[in-house]
Amino acid sequence: MLASIYIYNEYRGYTSLDRVLEAVRARCPDEAEFIAAVEKHRADERKHYLMFKRWFERQGRMPLKVDRTCGHIDRFIEGVFGCTIEELDTAAIIADGDQFEQLCRVIMLTEQRGMRQVDVLLENRHVKSDPVMSKIFRIVEKDEPDHWLPYFHWLTRQGRVTAKWRERWTDYWIHKSLMLAKLPAIFVNRANPRLDVWPDQDATVYAAG
Ligand SMILES: [Fe+2]
Ligand SMILES: [Fe+2]
Repeated sequence: MLASIYIYNEYRGYTSLDRVLEAVRARCPDEAEFIAAVEKHRADERKHYLMFKRWFERQGRMPLKVDRTCGHIDRFIEGVFGCTIEELDTAAIIADGDQFEQLCRVIMLTEQRGMRQVDVLLENRHVKSDPVMSKIFRIVEKDEPDHWLPYFHWLTRQGRVTAKWRERWTDYWIHKSLMLAKLPAIFVNRANPRLDVWPDQDATVYAAG
């Protein structure tokens, strides 16, 4: 179950970052370093996705079908922007500095959350009992600081507050509700279907049904 949720979030991460990258290239065309950092972030999330995919392939099973209510970033975007990731208007974010900064903060907070979560998971006994899974999380742990620092540095350079209390609060509540309500519900629901195709082969698998 844990791996199913991770694979969803990694997939969501790298596909959404394509659009972030589009916004960053348009808004900060002269900041080659920032663009390169976001490119690396995208490449890392895809690498993480592929590691979890291989883990499932070794098990001979497909991930459970989870939906966007399990995605921290999905819920965060919905909380802050009032729409789904698909509905996010890339052109409007490019045109509006405040929205662009807000997006950077949401990514930063999500990734900081992710980093703390990985530290917790590395101590988890189920993770520890699976050497391949432990190795995956150690690689994720190593990559994670690069996923929020670029946005943090960029926001700091702009002299902008790095996070508003309301955004931190939203982040905290999403985390709590995922941990205490959403995840146990999936765990209990043994009938939860599995994916029949990989999302990188068919982008609609998580959306359909
Ligand atoms: Fe990741
Ligand atoms: Fe990440």
